[in-house]
Amino acid sequence: MGKNLIRCIEGTRDYFDLDGARFGKAMKAADHVFTAYGYSQIHTPVFEATELFARGIGEATDIVEKEMYTFKPGSDMITLRPEGTAGVIRAFLQHSMHKQGGLNKLWYSGPMFRRERPQKGRQRQFHQVGVEAVGSSDPLLDAEVIAMGLQFYAAVGITGIRTRLNSIGCSAPECRAKYRETLREAIRPNLDKFCKNCQNRFDRNVLRLLDCKNPSCKELAANLPKSHEHVCGECADHFGKVTEALDAFGVDYVIDPTLVRGLDYYTKTVFEYTHSALGAQDAIGGGGRYDGLVEELGGPSIPAVGFAIGVERVMIAMETLGACCCTAPLMVYGIAAGDEEHKAMSGLLARLRRAGVSCDMDFEGKSFKAQMRTAGRRGALIALILGSNELETGQITVKDMREDGGQSTVPLSQMQEAIEALVTVG
Ligand code: HAM
Repeated sequence: MGKNLIRCIEGTRDYFDLDGARFGKAMKAADHVFTAYGYSQIHTPVFEATELFARGIGEATDIVEKEMYTFKPGSDMITLRPEGTAGVIRAFLQHSMHKQGGLNKLWYSGPMFRRERPQKGRQRQFHQVGVEAVGSSDPLLDAEVIAMGLQFYAAVGITGIRTRLNSIGCSAPECRAKYRETLREAIRPNLDKFCKNCQNRFDRNVLRLLDCKNPSCKELAANLPKSHEHVCGECADHFGKVTEALDAFGVDYVIDPTLVRGLDYYTKTVFEYTHSALGAQDAIGGGGRYDGLVEELGGPSIPAVGFAIGVERVMIAMETLGACCCTAPLMVYGIAAGDEEHKAMSGLLARLRRAGVSCDMDFEGKSFKAQMRTAGRRGALIALILGSNELETGQITVKDMREDGGQSTVPLSQMQEAIEALVTVG
């Protein structure tokens, strides 16, 4: 008997074939779109001091209370990052990026870890692409960030995104704190009608009662006072300017008073992108402004705004919409008749690859016929054939593998031209 097989951990996944292609397309789109808006890449560690997330995300959040992977390998408590924002702001402060002044636009991608119950679109290791624009309180920036997220979805071929928007106010006493009290007063007479979870949250985090998924809580929440109508003058003005800019950009959105988000660092603008292909876990991305986080993490008072997009959920939507249904095609498969031809083929393919032509060849000593079959199975557009005749006369046969494609034997010096006549290179 062989040894037993080891499988990946529940809530984690491998991506290959079409999923590998979808993942790659999402990464390329992130690079392309975020770079176009002036963002540069940042990569931070996958684990950080537990305190960073406890302070940054908030002690009373589901993430910090029950979902973090926390270890104590030595004397320090460390946690696998459940999200990217806290680490980016930690790095921003550690490397004194604020001392250069101005706005810092940073984007990132990578795995995140949350100990949630796995289901469709919800994993324990998942991936995000995200952006953080640190150093401006301009409402136009909130709108630009929201529009950029939508451009990312368009770039991966996802249509039908819904943008939910709200303002949850700021830390001024007459703003969110007052709204919380207004909300408690409105809820108190009916508190027993809310679910147990909501009743537990009433004192600690009353805003979360607004976004409870329980249908009867949802019904009750619909009639509660709306945060964007109760925030302070400055926050109301900011929200008005964000919606005005979104209207000017032609961005479709709905103001959703029940949107409060699950992380404590948000101030003013919050938003979420949803997609109907996702079922219960329909948030395909989310973010908002967080003007207090830099200070909370020991820095000066610096405003910021950003979002993160869930790559796995993007992949589900891409699959449902048929937005990426094939792996990148192999342009050329090299077929060689014998040892000398095999060696020569390897040199020719190296030359083509440098010119941007994707190529591969056999490394298993397969017969000529079997190599032809592999070229077909791999979906190669062109087979390059090097037999002993060709090798002796300094020629090569270029065979178009598509239906009704012909073939021609050309001098080696014309090989690249012959290929470029059949496929678009670059
Ligand atoms: P978040 O809403 O917690 O925000 O996560 C952003 C996105 O990550 C979600 O909309 C979802 O698509 C995806 N996601 C979250 N949890 C899971 C999971 N268990 N499995 C699969 N996908 C998941 C943040 O993380 C904030 N840091 C966003 C942000 C950046 N706000 C400002 N800047």
